[in-house]
Amino acid sequence: MRVSATSLILLVPFSLAAFTHPGLLHTASEFTFVASKVASGAQPWTTGFAKLTANSHSASTYTARPVATVYRGTSSLGTENYSLLFNDMAAAYALALRWKISGDTTYAAAAAAVIDAWSSTLTEISGSSDKFLAAGLYGFQFANAVEILRGYSAWTGFAAAKEVLLDVFYPMNRNFLLNHNGAAIDHYWANWDLCNIASAIAIGVVADNQTIYDEAIEYFYHGAGNGAIENAIWKVYTGADAGLAQLQESGRDQGHTMLVVGMLGTIAKMAGSQGLDLFGYLDNRILKGAEYAAKYNLGNDVPYTTYTNSDVTQTVIAPASRGDIRPIWELLYNQYAKKKGLAAPWTTQYAALVRTNGSGSEGGGGNYGPNSGGYDQLGYGTLMFSL
Ligand SMILES: *[C@@H]1O[C@H](CO)[C@@H](O)[C@H](O)[C@H]1NC(C)=O
Ligand SMILES: *[C@@H]1O[C@H](CO)[C@@H](O)[C@H](O)[C@H]1NC(C)=O
Ligand SMILES: *[C@@H]1O[C@H](CO)[C@@H](O)[C@H](O)[C@H]1NC(C)=O
Repeated sequence: MRVSATSLILLVPFSLAAFTHPGLLHTASEFTFVASKVASGAQPWTTGFAKLTANSHSASTYTARPVATVYRGTSSLGTENYSLLFNDMAAAYALALRWKISGDTTYAAAAAAVIDAWSSTLTEISGSSDKFLAAGLYGFQFANAVEILRGYSAWTGFAAAKEVLLDVFYPMNRNFLLNHNGAAIDHYWANWDLCNIASAIAIGVVADNQTIYDEAIEYFYHGAGNGAIENAIWKVYTGADAGLAQLQESGRDQGHTMLVVGMLGTIAKMAGSQGLDLFGYLDNRILKGAEYAAKYNLGNDVPYTTYTNSDVTQTVIAPASRGDIRPIWELLYNQYAKKKGLAAPWTTQYAALVRTNGSGSEGGGGNYGPNSGGYDQLGYGTLMFSL
């Protein structure tokens, strides 16, 4: 019997072929492009690469500090030590990029040493409910470093890295998305779902597991919690405010709102590497959320609609941490304004602001202070996402 295209799509909804590798934040052709731009001294890639090489996390002498149990959140179980993990994941990623762009395998070996140290040591992520943030954020970061490094032919640690992703991180990602730590479905803010969606997508690709990948993409489309796209960016404005859409965390504070914007860009870019266009989904919904956040954080007024969930009623947009600087905008600016050619005036301005803040380039973990917020996103967007 002939299988029609339609029934194939129904059987395998989100991707039709085997996974592409490397296929998360960056593809093989993107690495080739960036490496050639840096080799020829072109801008802004050369400034972006200098930003990377100046960050101590990209030094070949970087030494991992793995622990068996990572704790995030104050609890009676143990003392918080998750900064060890987020510093090391920033290093693994920075070193992997430095290898791909310079061609110098010293950096691949150093990145592999960081990953291997954790693969052979980490058995548990614990702490308060914040442990689910750790599983999501550092899961997507670990998986991205592994996905790049899998192309380093001398590396023998891929299987062990895949195992720790599947055995330690992924079960927590899935558990959180299904059960939300036993809370009301609207209790956890959007960023909690989003980092766990990002981690599950990334681990699905690393492990070549269509089931894991599809389940995470399905959650992005139709999940029950606040990370599903129509909950994360829930209020679309029209008329004079067309092009703007309010985010689930807009009434909370702007730092967390920025985390939501950053995670949505990360999720869409990773899916894009597998041929799935989430950027365009629902009439470019992610862009509308980014535009709203950028416009407000640049000091302009935006419309606001009262947000209510089981815990709070927020009648005004939250000014706390307005103007928050995170390396999340080059990705969105390049995908929407440059690649799709769409109007993205506020996103464009915010990308310029963060670029200027970093002396011509977005930085990575370590360039935005010692706290976790500076490590929530992998960064280096001027280097890696400029088109
Ligand atoms: C957590 O990290 C601290 C150092 O910050 C360390 O002393 C402790 O042993 C770690 N806990 C576990 C269980 O690995
Ligand atoms: C993919 O992951 C799911 C969920 O953990 C598991 O049940 C399944 O066996 C995996 N599939 C393959 C091919 O490894
Ligand atoms: C970059 O932004 C941070 C955080 O707002 C600020 O403290 C710092 O002074 C800025 N740096 C530059 C060069 O603009």
